[in-house]
Amino acid sequence: MTAYKSKMVERIHLPSREVRDENLEAAGYNVFNLPSKDVYIDLLTDSGTGTMSAEQWAAMMLGDEAYAGSSSFENLKDAVSDVMGMEYVVPTHQGRGAENVLYGTLLEEGDVVPNNTHFDTTRAHIANAGAEAVDCPVSGAMEMQSDEPFKGNFDIEKGWDVVEEHGEDAIPVVVLTITNNSTAGQPVSMANIRAVSEFAAEIDATFVMDACRFAENAYFIQQREEDYEHHSIADIAREELSYADALVMSGKKDALVNIGGFVACRDADLFEHTRQRAILYEGFSTYGGLAGRDIEAMAQGLREAVTQEYVESRVGQVQELAGLLDDANLPVYLPAGGHAVYLDAEGFFPHIPLEEFPGQALVCELYREGGVRGVELGSFAFPGTNRPELVRLALPRRTYNREHLEHIAETVAGVYERRDSVSGLEIVSEPPMKELRHFSAELRPV
Ligand code: F0G
Repeated sequence: MTAYKSKMVERIHLPSREVRDENLEAAGYNVFNLPSKDVYIDLLTDSGTGTMSAEQWAAMMLGDEAYAGSSSFENLKDAVSDVMGMEYVVPTHQGRGAENVLYGTLLEEGDVVPNNTHFDTTRAHIANAGAEAVDCPVSGAMEMQSDEPFKGNFDIEKGWDVVEEHGEDAIPVVVLTITNNSTAGQPVSMANIRAVSEFAAEIDATFVMDACRFAENAYFIQQREEDYEHHSIADIAREELSYADALVMSGKKDALVNIGGFVACRDADLFEHTRQRAILYEGFSTYGGLAGRDIEAMAQGLREAVTQEYVESRVGQVQELAGLLDDANLPVYLPAGGHAVYLDAEGFFPHIPLEEFPGQALVCELYREGGVRGVELGSFAFPGTNRPELVRLALPRRTYNREHLEHIAETVAGVYERRDSVSGLEIVSEPPMKELRHFSAELRPV
């Protein structure tokens, strides 16, 4: 059931098929190069692309733009304390700013950092600090269809293998990403959160949570984990985060804003160190690269994110889209995650070898077919890794409605129907850093 109606609208436009063909060619078959005005339904990301509430827009008018000591910062501090239970807050311009500030403070050359699965910016910031990022997903995390309710969990045994290989002293930080974006947006159970916190305590490591989608994760715990069905989302969210020593947050997800992020922690000493680094990279520690009005919107958004109405219609919409695709027998990862539906590109194009990027071919065909923009998260985005060939359709928060979902499902089905006639792609030019390839490389049909 939806909990929203529109108060402001933005026109969208489906260009003709000819124009879509031309746009694809001009974009070098890379949808990051498409003008957004020519994208009919934009599922590139759920990050910063959602719709703010009337209360958030109203709060923006109260933004205190003082360089130091702004009252907007005090409001954010109160919201983080109430919603997330953390005392100290360092605002940053977005999630990766928080990663830079925290990991740059905690890590040294040669350190090793286990995580259920590192998101790409997390991995990059850990590498930038001279440390090594190691993934510890549970086995079966990448099974395309299974009934397992918490495929985002951290495999504690794999964590102990990392300890055995590198020694406790090399592991100052253990991270847990909720939900697990790089594992199809799958949730992490409360039992697993507890187990990871015990693991981190045993090896004397700081337990950091990447909390960007903490409210969506709380919803899955309420729906799927024993003993939580009668707990409120707000209570579950606070309990989830109560096990962490610190957290990094991209406000562009579950703080329901277009820009913003922060580090939060419990320890005064860690706060002071983090704050100093934030002043260097983000701005003075009461604004952190944000306008006071952005901070007000983030404080309000955090409170809205943990309401039952919000999160139920949010995750419900993602499940609804997955249901439409599954009903049409399309190859989709199940159960769906909290923020996106993931398509199995190899299930569409078994005739296209991985070297010819079946996932990227699918992304291009979705645009050609119905003006829908998704993102490839497989052989093109992660060269040299052995990841499944997934295409992510991420739903912006509080933005699209049932008719949009139906158009998306029809578009995917349309591509599936003509799947045998789709060919692969080859790279024409790419940037020097392989990790950033999918943002700007250009391709052409084979
Ligand atoms: N951690 C996770 C788990 C994320 O999903 C993201 C962003 C970040 C950190 C970085 O936050 O973008 O505010 O700097 N994910 C977006 C996505 C970009 O499309 O999944 P940011």
